[in-house]
Amino acid sequence: MPLSPPPFRPGQLWPDTDGTPINAHGGGFLYRNGTYFWYGEFKTGGEGGNRANVGISVYSSRDLYHWKNEGIALKVSEDENSPIVKGSVLERPKVLFNAATGKYVMWFHLELKGKGYSAALAGVATSRSPVGPFTFVRSFRPDGEMSRDMTLFADDDGKAYLITTSENNQTQHVSQLTDDYLDTTGHFARILAHQALEGEAIFKVNGRYFYIGSHTTGWTPNPAFAATAERITGPWTPLGNPCTGPNANITFGAQSTYVLAVHGKPGAFIFIADQWNPKDAIDGRYVWLPITLAASSFSIPWRSAWDLHVFDSR
Ligand code: GAL
Repeated sequence: MPLSPPPFRPGQLWPDTDGTPINAHGGGFLYRNGTYFWYGEFKTGGEGGNRANVGISVYSSRDLYHWKNEGIALKVSEDENSPIVKGSVLERPKVLFNAATGKYVMWFHLELKGKGYSAALAGVATSRSPVGPFTFVRSFRPDGEMSRDMTLFADDDGKAYLITTSENNQTQHVSQLTDDYLDTTGHFARILAHQALEGEAIFKVNGRYFYIGSHTTGWTPNPAFAATAERITGPWTPLGNPCTGPNANITFGAQSTYVLAVHGKPGAFIFIADQWNPKDAIDGRYVWLPITLAASSFSIPWRSAWDLHVFDSR
């Protein structure tokens, strides 16, 4: 008899299949041929653990409950001249598969060692395998613009986009990727201007786009911000804070990082967020919650434990 799956327990320690807490913060997800991949910031202990001391980790799962540690997908460099040298900042990795080149393409927020958050760069790395090793390609300001928190979104028409916190954290830029996903095309739309948002995530339901992000208070949680649009380049209509229940005004103590579409279950989307622990970075926790969809809005009610059956009645 198969064991019944453990439910998701937002904010609780989540061991991998070896029994070690999952270490993949600011995560991004990829589904490919029956397997989900979870990429994230590999944190170490203490305050210094927020810097990239190791790299970007990757875990795999077939059921979203049990995650196998697949190691470090992108390692930091030992070369002081490399932008991704140990001690730099590598945050919010997101990976897409590019069918034309057969490559897995990772984008992430990169800050240079010893320069705080002033560089505001995006980094790109590629691999032939979803679990790496990824090879660093380059870092740059997409379209010549500042880029801090970011996500990628692959649309169903084959186009893919970088959505990033630009203009010194004030305005979101939606920038179409080149066909190989290694660059932006030089054109970008300014959306949600002067709203000061980050931790952005995008999902699409029945042709309508939905956005969730946070406000910009660093590691400290704040109210989430949702919006919807008929075109990814806007105009976007603000929907306010979609969270409900205890601590909904601080996103349950967390900050958005991704919305994961459950494969084979239309309308099943999981909101994924980080409860940061800046004083002991490795002890940050994950908040996964099912999204409740309405025609042109959505909500995220708190649940202390749940499993994928919540989507069955939809
Ligand atoms: C947050 C951001 C995190 C990290 C942090 C550093 O605003 O979402 O990814 O950059 O600031 O203080």
